[in-house]
Amino acid sequence: MFRDNFLLGASLSGFQFEMGENVVDKKTDWYVWGKNDLNAHSGMLSGDDPESGPDYWESYQKFHQLAVEAGMNALRIGIEWSRIFPEKTYGLTGEKLSEIANYDAVNHYKKIMRDIKEKGMKLMVNLNHFTLPLWAHDPLAVNRKMDFTAPGWIDSAIVQEFSKYASFVVEQFDDLVDYWSTLNEPNVVAKMGYLNNNSGFPPSIIAPDLWSKAMNNQIDAHIKAYNAMKSKTDKPVGLIYATIWFDGDEIAAEAFKFNNYYFLDSVNEYCDFLGINYYTRTVVKKRNKPIKIGNIEIQWDSLPGYGYSCQPNGFSRDGRIATDNGWEIYPEGLEKIIINLSERYNKKLFITENGVADSLDRCRTYYLLAHLDVVEKLANRCNIEGYFHWSLTDNFEWSEGYSKRFGLVYVDYENKCFVPRPSYYVFREIANNKSIIQFNSLLDLFERENTNNK
Ligand code: BGC
Repeated sequence: MFRDNFLLGASLSGFQFEMGENVVDKKTDWYVWGKNDLNAHSGMLSGDDPESGPDYWESYQKFHQLAVEAGMNALRIGIEWSRIFPEKTYGLTGEKLSEIANYDAVNHYKKIMRDIKEKGMKLMVNLNHFTLPLWAHDPLAVNRKMDFTAPGWIDSAIVQEFSKYASFVVEQFDDLVDYWSTLNEPNVVAKMGYLNNNSGFPPSIIAPDLWSKAMNNQIDAHIKAYNAMKSKTDKPVGLIYATIWFDGDEIAAEAFKFNNYYFLDSVNEYCDFLGINYYTRTVVKKRNKPIKIGNIEIQWDSLPGYGYSCQPNGFSRDGRIATDNGWEIYPEGLEKIIINLSERYNKKLFITENGVADSLDRCRTYYLLAHLDVVEKLANRCNIEGYFHWSLTDNFEWSEGYSKRFGLVYVDYENKCFVPRPSYYVFREIANNKSIIQFNSLLDLFERENTNNK
């Protein structure tokens, strides 16, 4: 059983959810990146308009009602930096900084948060989920011209600006928030932005030295923001991280350390909790010749056919079910990560994202049961305080646009209609009973299926 105050909810972010025809946020890097024709024509991005989204900004009450009716007692949402500070903040502090804040956006976020609280849910607010204000990051200039006038996370000046934004946001919203988080998946931002020129993530260039800068500036940004926030709030302030479990030969342990420990060790002292995002694993094999990234030697290759690189809706080379985007269902990875990170850091943990692209709701119920089973078994031993599913509804899946559907609730984007999928009702049963126990035999059946396809 989950204890009574265990949080069972869903995670949302700003950019992926807020927009929907009338509420366009043009002042963010992902907006210009997503709207760029060449990006779409090259096939790197879907070409879907970010502003045709599920419209959380205007329809937030509907979303919150859906969460309540699913038995959720918590939601994680994001604030868009570009909405609060659409113009440059360099050199401005105190009153001068407050003067350029967008109070329409501040007041609107307050309404959203108040509604969550009035509906009886706990609220986790994350301050940065992949997007940066355009004044801080112009990804087209970087990608097309190597023009680094607004270079994003690779510029150390952003550290100070982020902490000013974080501290302003705490001043405005702290009475409504239960848990704060600074960054979502800084490791993904650095890897997809600077180690892959076809990732679809801005600025999509290959520049290992810039990858190091992006990692280190985000470490500094988290620490500076944490200190600034803690001087104004008693609420827990944490970090949300993209964890991956690594299997394979003797090099797998090195790959795991590289992906997880470098960042987390550096911020460990400055985190009241750790948010674990987990989707699947990676299987690696030792390389004959290492690749160098700055001072770091990468001694492994990822093997296709496992983890993130399976045939969509097929099976992994291990015979396990793969999802609409070809991600292998591998709940054992979550178990190993939780144990590993809880032993290393001895911190309160939240599972802040975990979910599946599954438009037909073919395997979401299995995914949900298998991962929640792990969480239920480890919650007390490993100090886990909550589980947030990704996500409540379908949303804008970055470079893949609206084609990948991660929602417990289906979204008809044209008519802005919301239809709960069968797995939504499974979530409700679990949340109402505070356990997956009543689904044990179904889970056994699914598990036999998932491991018997070799
Ligand atoms: C991100 C989400 C994304 C999800 C599924 C996570 O890495 O934080 O924004 O939608 O994965 O790809």
